[in-house]
Parts: sequence; structure tokens; C-alpha cells
Amino acid sequence: MKRSRSLVAANWKMNGSRTVNEAWLKQFNAHKNTLACDVVVCAPHVYLHQLRNALSADEIGAQDVSQHQPGAYTGDTAAEMLKDTGCGWVIVGHSERRQGHGETDGTVAAKAERALEAGLRPIVCIGETLQQREAEQTHAVLSSQLSAVLERIGVQGLARGALAYEPVWAIGTGRTATPEQAQEVHAALRAQIGQADRVRILYGGSVKPGNAAELFAQPDIDGGLIGGASLVAADFVAICAAVPK
Ligand code: PGA
Repeated sequence: MKRSRSLVAANWKMNGSRTVNEAWLKQFNAHKNTLACDVVVCAPHVYLHQLRNALSADEIGAQDVSQHQPGAYTGDTAAEMLKDTGCGWVIVGHSERRQGHGETDGTVAAKAERALEAGLRPIVCIGETLQQREAEQTHAVLSSQLSAVLERIGVQGLARGALAYEPVWAIGTGRTATPEQAQEVHAALRAQIGQADRVRILYGGSVKPGNAAELFAQPDIDGGLIGGASLVAADFVAICAAVPK
């Protein structure tokens, strides 16, 4: 028996088109009522309006947000704007942004805080690289990434959103953490958070219809953040359906 309803989030990354999205939403909506979990679809900013026609705000997420208040930040999107567009959630600290856009633990914490200030629920991503895992630094790395966020938004803030453990070596590589590896990390993260049952901890990294059930069956895994496999509506539905009832 899980502590609260599981959450499965789709992270489309920089994929989609109006035509492709429309077909995806139609297919997904045909199955949505059968699912026993909460669902969020995180789309590129330019398509958030399109999602609004098919999903409720609780089911719509962005993939990034500015750490700044509205103002002179060309190309950025403020948390208030995402909220105004009909978004309920936003991913912060994805490893593709930490690595490719130089986001530090401080930036990620500031983004999570801005999201909450605007009434958005942050999905805060943390994860270790392969090099860090092999050097047995996994727990130290995750612990400091998590601390930076907790110092800024507290357990209460994190509980409004979710924490996502995404080992960098498992993202888009087809190499998934074993259920035991993921469970071990999730249990440690839950212990660090302290008020154990208040925060949903998602697993992300090469989750597919074929491996979702065994991951979601772990006691400390409360759902998933799904990249590549979320692009095919039928696969995403199958992954959501793997959540224990
Ligand atoms: P993946 O990506 O499912 O394609 O590994 C997960 C993520 O980056 O959120």
C-alpha cells in the first residue's frame, strides 16, 4: 500500500508538433479514466496552450522556469507566465539543464522557490553521473543536491511538488537502474527528507512499459518521470497502468 497516489509525469523534452501533439492527446484522453495515478504532461513552452484544450491545469507541466522575477531577461519565461498559461507544474533541475545550461544547485533551488511563489508545483530533479556512481559518491552527491533545495523551500515546498531521482547514466541510454538500486536511493532520500510520507519521490531514467511495474512496485518509488517512452501515447498509458492499484 503506497502512502499517497502515485504520480507519473511525461517529459516530452524538445519534441512534438501541433499535429503530433493533437494525436497524442486524443489517444491519451481515451484511456485517462482507466488510470489509477495522477498524471502530468510536461511539454515545450510553445505547446502549453495546446495542452490546455485537452487537459486540466493539474495535468500540465512546463520543463523549465526562470529563477527571476518578470523583467529584462530576454528569452526566459517567468513562473507567473506559466501559471497564467494554464500550467500547474514545472520540472526544475533536469540533468540536461544542469549539464547543458550550467544550472547549479543554487539555480535549481531558486527556480523551485519561484515556481512555488507563483502557485506552480515543482518536480525537482536530482541525480548522479556514472563517474560519481563509480567513485561511490552517489549518496554524497544526491544529499547535497537535495539539501540545497530543502534549505530554500523546505519539506513543505517539496511536498507541494515532487522529487525525481534520475541517475544521469540512465537517462535516454536504455540503461535503467535496477529496481533494487533505485529503491536503495529512494529510501535514503526519504530518510534525509525526514517527514517521510509527505513527499512523492519519482524515478526517471529509461522507464519503459516493460520495466515500469517492477520499479513502481518498490516501496519508496511513488511514480516516474518518463522521457523517450512518453512520446508514444500508448507506451505512456501502459507505463501509467503499471502503477500498483
Ligand atoms: P528517459 O528520460 O526516460 O528518456 O530516460 C527521462 C528524463 O530525462 O526525464
